[in-house]
Amino acid sequence: MAQTRVAAASAPNDLESFWLPFTPNRGFKRAPRLIVRAKDMHYYTAAGGPAVLDGTAGLWCTNAGHNRDPIVAAIQRQAAELDFSPAFQFAHPKAFSLASRIAALAPGDLNRVFFCNSGSEACDTALKIALAYHHVRGEGTRTRLIGRERGYHGVGFGGISVGGMVNNRKFFGTLLTGVDHLPATYSREHQAFTKGEPEWGAHLADELERIVALHDASTIAAVIVEPMAGSTGVLPPPKGYLERVRAICDKHGILLIFDEVITGFGRLGHAFAAERYGVTPDLICFAKGVTSGAVPMGGVIARESLYDAFMRGPEHVIELFHGYTYSAHPLACAAGLAALDLYRDEKLFERAKKLEPVMADAAMMLKGLPGVLDVRTVGVAAGIDLASRPGAVGLRAYEAMERAFHDEDLVIRVGGETIAIAPPLIVSEAQIAEIFEKLAHVIRAVN
Ligand SMILES: Cc1ncc(COP(=O)(O)O)c(C=O)c1O
Repeated sequence: MAQTRVAAASAPNDLESFWLPFTPNRGFKRAPRLIVRAKDMHYYTAAGGPAVLDGTAGLWCTNAGHNRDPIVAAIQRQAAELDFSPAFQFAHPKAFSLASRIAALAPGDLNRVFFCNSGSEACDTALKIALAYHHVRGEGTRTRLIGRERGYHGVGFGGISVGGMVNNRKFFGTLLTGVDHLPATYSREHQAFTKGEPEWGAHLADELERIVALHDASTIAAVIVEPMAGSTGVLPPPKGYLERVRAICDKHGILLIFDEVITGFGRLGHAFAAERYGVTPDLICFAKGVTSGAVPMGGVIARESLYDAFMRGPEHVIELFHGYTYSAHPLACAAGLAALDLYRDEKLFERAKKLEPVMADAAMMLKGLPGVLDVRTVGVAAGIDLASRPGAVGLRAYEAMERAFHDEDLVIRVGGETIAIAPPLIVSEAQIAEIFEKLAHVIRAVN
């Protein structure tokens, strides 16, 4: 028995044991998409085949490109110097350095940074901070959390409760109680084929007034939204929408959380989307791009006043009973500092802003192809909706992803019947053209 296990463990093609996340496992194991190496804009496959163009910055995370030398070197140095120090009651210097670098990038007085290890943890952390904030200020009746339909805030119980993706929710019981949802901001009828923020939809923010009237403000702790909903298909906020949400939250003493796990670190041409939209939330969730995807890391940036509200009571008592073994892990902090250096030195956020019209024009070339129902673009991101085949929702986009990889050497991301394109911010104009040319072939092929 033991011998069989050893043999199986060393077999290079044993695909059985690994249960892949958010993946149709049987389909994958029949025709695996294996990646063994990456550099800059490309992956390389196990077969030693051609370079595969990364159209999605990993999973919206490798904003500075893959295997960038300064990040690799920083991780290597850190691993040799300090692998781990306890995250509770102790700390290491790079945690402070990274926190202050992130605080400097964040808008307004958002300058206190709590670290965790993923976007899901960031969202659950922000929701917990919001609840605890009201509690420590003597407003413990504020326990409701408001999310939005088509929102994605990761896969923790908090995140799926405020999230609005039915398949991420329906299998997992009753979720958190006391949660309500704003309507999604997308309407194909009013917004199809829009570059940037659509004109239609700001009024949907007023639904928050209806929700407040129903539950009473005294029961509501926070609203959480993605400034641009990425995972449900690149849905930029309607013009004026976020301002209205902010104003209603202010009027009723409700905290506003921006989930910037995708929009943070340059995707929309700014360090954070809050800056692009001129709207300052009370808490920002971040992850992914903070290390350019090289080491798992997430976090929450809080307004100083919010942090200060916790800093009371005896000094030997923990102010927030929350944290993770790997909060501010030394390898993640080293990778984060190196990634932020790259973003600054290569002006990658400004680069994203310059590339926005190039992306938008290239993506709109898909309009008119068979089965293309909508194309949306914002920053260095595009969402393309395909028509479903009768009785097989999602199959066309799934096939598009398979064909893109196997036939066109291109990685795209699909969810439902939507294709998302969001390359690393180092993408060249020629590579943007290449991505959409390949995608046009694929879309024709799946018709
Ligand atoms: C907006 C948003 N929040 C949270 C998450 C969850 O992040 P993670 O997969 O790192 O837990 C994601 C992941 O795509 C996301 O897009």
